[in-house]
Amino acid sequence: MDSIHIRGGNALFGETKIQGSKNAVLPILAAALLIEDVCVLENCPRISDVHHMLMLLSGIGCRVGRSGQTITIDARNVSEDTVSGENVAGMRSSIMLLGAMLGRAGEVTMGYPGGCVIGERPIDLHLNALRKMGVKIYEKEGVFTARAEKLEGAVIRPCVCSVGVTENVILAAVRAKGVTVLQNAAKEPEIVALCEFLREAGAVIEGIGGSVLIIQGGHKLHGVRFRIPPDRIVAGTYLMGVLGTGGHIFLEDAPVAQMHSVLRAAELAGAEVIVSRDGLSVMADQGRKALSLTKTEIYPGFPTDMQSLLMAALTTASGISVIEETVFENRFRIVEQLKKMGADIELRGKRQAVIYGVDSLLGCEVTADELRGGAALVIAGCMAEGETVVANRHFIERGYEDICRDFQNLGVNIYTEYGEKKIEKKETDEKNKYR
Ligand code: UD1
Repeated sequence: MDSIHIRGGNALFGETKIQGSKNAVLPILAAALLIEDVCVLENCPRISDVHHMLMLLSGIGCRVGRSGQTITIDARNVSEDTVSGENVAGMRSSIMLLGAMLGRAGEVTMGYPGGCVIGERPIDLHLNALRKMGVKIYEKEGVFTARAEKLEGAVIRPCVCSVGVTENVILAAVRAKGVTVLQNAAKEPEIVALCEFLREAGAVIEGIGGSVLIIQGGHKLHGVRFRIPPDRIVAGTYLMGVLGTGGHIFLEDAPVAQMHSVLRAAELAGAEVIVSRDGLSVMADQGRKALSLTKTEIYPGFPTDMQSLLMAALTTASGISVIEETVFENRFRIVEQLKKMGADIELRGKRQAVIYGVDSLLGCEVTADELRGGAALVIAGCMAEGETVVANRHFIERGYEDICRDFQNLGVNIYTEYGEKKIEKKETDEKNKYR
């Protein structure tokens, strides 16, 4: 149960469509809470993190509807100021509800957020930034209450350029009194999407996409219909898949303008990439080159979320590759699992991995313990000879709508136990038809 089976060793051929972005939809769902009206969000991925966020929003009093990839949020009657339930601890982005609830209700009580086990991931910078806006924080037994008698605009400069802190400040600032100037703001495309959503709803935000954001608070917000952009990390996952196995794939809707550093890494490794308005075409031979040094960095640098996916693809490159992780410590947990499959990787401290390319990987049982690392094991399974079983599929389902469907579209023999039963049953039905 809860696993993915892959019979690997073949090149990828085919095309698949890229789902909506997890890291864009989650803060936008939180932002819908600020709007005393109905919002319609299109192209929302059907992933468990979204499901959990919807449960949190319903718990606070939002009316939530879903039809396919479209989600409707009616936040006219928010009743609770406590964000409760196990979903808070299970999902890092529940922290977005801190800024949103302060903006909406002036007060919130919640547990500490969870998420992937990829490093310390404290929330000190979130709390410090909000304190500057007049928020007082009271902590008791793992639960904290944040309260603002009067939420006020401020000049804020977090010492680390953080995606989550930038989003939380934006969420609080659009409903605060006066102007907020946020320096050292993160520039990730998902922040741009959040700002565009809020701007369409009536917020006044300047400097979108830059490192200084100026937010004029207090403007009346109204309901909007908004399309969630496609997921650059999911597109990057399949790109790394074809880099690992060789082949030729087309990724419809891949957000190529946001993937510069990833496309460059793929080209340096020997892949040919062709971008078009409709998506991304990638061709790769099996004998790809090692990459001398790839460092993860804040956007537009190489994303930390792509690091383990690249590592999997490089395990069989010819030569020695080095990857340096500068954003999160503890993000090399996949190394032991890749070694089980025959990879030769040496860790130098917590931040650097040296990958000595081997001829091939061998399928075996491996265990995912976080989202992107889990997807990287699926890539390794596509590359490996024989059968690979990746346990803990639920981590992967936090961010991928249906990774088996997508890799099947690219020609991989991959299935969950449930999928196999379904396939077997269908085959039996087909056979019976001709008896
Ligand atoms: C977001 C993304 C995640 C991605 C990460 C970096 C979402 C839902 N998640 O996570 O997929 O990997 O950006 O691109 O969008 N830090 C502190 N104190 C804080 C907050 C952060 O020290 O209060 C540190 C973190 O430990 C980390 C660095 O700041 O070293 C950057 O983290 P941050 O950008 O905040 O990541 P998230 O918003 O959690």
